[in-house]
Parts: sequence; C-alpha cells; structure tokens
Amino acid sequence: MSDPTFPNLTVIGHPLIQHKLTLLRDRRTGTKDFKQLVAEIAMLLAYEVTKYLPTEPVEIETPLERMVGRLVSDKKITLVPILRAGLGMVEGVSRLMPTARVGHIGLARDEESLQPVSYYAKLPPMGDRDHDFIVLDPMLATGGSALAAVTTLKASGARRIRFLCIVAAPQGVRRMLQGHPDVPVYTAALDRELNPAGFIVPGLGDAGDRLFGTL
Ligand code: PRP
Repeated sequence: MSDPTFPNLTVIGHPLIQHKLTLLRDRRTGTKDFKQLVAEIAMLLAYEVTKYLPTEPVEIETPLERMVGRLVSDKKITLVPILRAGLGMVEGVSRLMPTARVGHIGLARDEESLQPVSYYAKLPPMGDRDHDFIVLDPMLATGGSALAAVTTLKASGARRIRFLCIVAAPQGVRRMLQGHPDVPVYTAALDRELNPAGFIVPGLGDAGDRLFGTL
C-alpha cells in the first residue's frame, strides 16, 4: 500500500502481519511472546522487502531430469540491526536469508533531547556495488536513529539501502524522505503521531525494553 504523502513508504498490510502486530501492541503481551512476535513479523515483512532481489540461473538435477532453476545470491545482503531493539528482527529475517551478513549499529536515543547517541558500529566489508543493505529497527519515531544509521552506512560506502520497521510515525517517515529520499521505508503500520515524550502513539511502547525485559 503506498501513500502519496510519503512516496518513500510502503505499508505492508498483510492480514497475518496485522494480526501479529495487534498482539504485539497489546500491553498484556509479555517478553517471551513479544520476542517471538517481533521475529515473526520481521520474517513476514522481509518476504515483501526482498521481492526485488535478483536471481541467478543454476543448473540442477531433479529426480527426473536436468533443469535450470534460479537462486538468490543472499551472500550480497547485509542486515543491519540498530541496537538494541533491531536485534529482535534479525532472527526472523535470517530465517529467510540464513547466509546474509549482519552488521551492527549501536544508537541510543537520549530521553530528553530525543537525539540519537552513537555507541557502536561494526559493518562487514562493503565489497561490490551490488551489495544490498536492510536496516532493521522496530520503531521509526522522530527518525533520528534511522537517519543516523543510514548516514553511517553511506559513509562506509553502502549505496543500496532499505529501512525496515514495524511501526512508524509520520514525523520519522518525513525525516527519512527529506534526509535520505533514496532509501525506501517499509513498515507494518503508519501510526498517528508522536506524543510529547517522543513515543509513537498508539504504538507498542518501548520495543527494546519489552524485548529484553528491562522495563
Ligand atoms: C528506540 C527504537 C529506535 C529509536 C526510535 O531505541 O528502537 O532505535 O528509539 O526513535 P527515533 O526515531 O526518535 O530515533 P532506544 O533509543 O530506546 O534504544 P534501545 O533500542 O536500546 O531501547
């Protein structure tokens, strides 16, 4: 589903994703189920986000005859979770792409200024220009963290980058459109707004705290 206000945004409204997202938002959902739901939603979103991937012909033999099938070269894909909450999405996406590399970017949002503070970055070698990057973070709120993560990736040489989240606020999507218009943003839901504390509403609370039980 595309929104003319945000040409960079794709909302993936598959019924299974909406079902799991509703369970994820529910305040009664505990850490164990929250973790599992984040992984499952990430896997379902990844199915859609990777539909552009090129495939290569490969000759194989079925029990009956030789044929040419097609394989995705997922060695050229790097998943980049934004710590901490993005880690919860890696497991699900990796189930679809087990040989994808994983880079990590550590950003924590200062609770008062809402500005992202960088504390870690470890990325694989950039290699050739065909390399695709999928940045993972369940929340796109003010967009500060997403913007900073993509800026870090581009400074390291990454060119083909997609951003995958579970819940987005209009402010964050707008900020990405202004700062990195070449980076498509995928989400399971575009929520109403940010509250004065910078939380997405209705949202799902603090994804990192709910994932890791640090509430
Ligand atoms: C949350 C969330 C995003 C960021 C979104 O992380 O997981 O990374 O805030 O906010 P923004 O769009 O306004 O930058 P947080 O800083 O709470 O760190 P955590 O994942 O370690 O909990």
